[in-house]
Amino acid sequence: MPHAQPAFPPALRDSAPETGASPNLAFEGTTPYEDYVRAEILTNLQKPISDDPGEMVFLVTTQVMELWFTVIVHEWETAARALREDDLPVALAALKRSTYELTSLNASWEPLAHLTPAQFNAFRSALGEASGFQSATYRRLEFLLGEKSAAMLVPYRNAPGVHARLEGALNAPSLYDEALGWLARRGHAIPAAVLERDPSERYAPVQEVEDVWQAVYAGDQGSEECRLGEALTEVAELVWRWRNDHLVATRRAMGAKVGSGGSAGVAWLEKRAGKHVFPELWTARSNV
Ligand code: HEM
Repeated sequence: MPHAQPAFPPALRDSAPETGASPNLAFEGTTPYEDYVRAEILTNLQKPISDDPGEMVFLVTTQVMELWFTVIVHEWETAARALREDDLPVALAALKRSTYELTSLNASWEPLAHLTPAQFNAFRSALGEASGFQSATYRRLEFLLGEKSAAMLVPYRNAPGVHARLEGALNAPSLYDEALGWLARRGHAIPAAVLERDPSERYAPVQEVEDVWQAVYAGDQGSEECRLGEALTEVAELVWRWRNDHLVATRRAMGAKVGSGGSAGVAWLEKRAGKHVFPELWTARSNV
């Protein structure tokens, strides 16, 4: 990250002339690094609520995942906007970045993937009713994937800012809606009912859309359509992996107990983890 050369006396530099210039040590205010990264704020947000030493990594992993969710929402919003503007290179670049980010997100399971029930129990009761189910940014992510649900806004009815943002995402076309719109403008036979659908409704698979993807995949493997299809498939697979890694970590940590958010726990997660986003991209493959 670039920063201006401050005018400090040589005594305030950790000089090692034989190895070239060394980093500046003195700044007029906070460091430019702090101004940019806000590390003081970020590293003061870890407040464990139990005495268990194992809780810290649970909290930090959850916060790290929230940060990745935030970046990925940003990428998919960029990709959706670019598709709307028929700018495929920008859309593909954002989707590509998001696949690297999803891979990092998924790798963050490692510290929680091996919790025994006793280790999890050591701080679990302190969590009360808190559950990842209440993550508003995860819900935005799902909405961008086409998994819309007005009911998912209910937990935020007393948080007007969060509620308004999520409501905006509910009513906006999803990334997949924008991809289908782009295909239609390229001359593919996406039905009008799909293009004009209520974007606040959960996306449900449509035969004609499957037929379009099937034709795309049967054709030129280097076509722009095929590249978009593969970029979306990569995203869908990595989302599926996150859900399944979450499911297995949960099964290891708490077996079939009910969730802190009030669900049946593993049985409920299993149903959600079994689904594939962008459904026709998966079903079309059977006929190519
Ligand atoms: C071993 C640690 C974890 C366990 C045992 C666990 C358990 C659960 C359970 C049982 C649910 C179902 C809802 C409920 O009744 O609470 C759930 C949902 C969820 N959890 Fe976790 N969780 C863990 C770690 C995490 C982490 C680190 C995140 C990151 C933010 C997270 C994000 C979510 C999300 C987004 C949902 C909602 C999923 C959906 O709506 O399909 N979980 N979790």
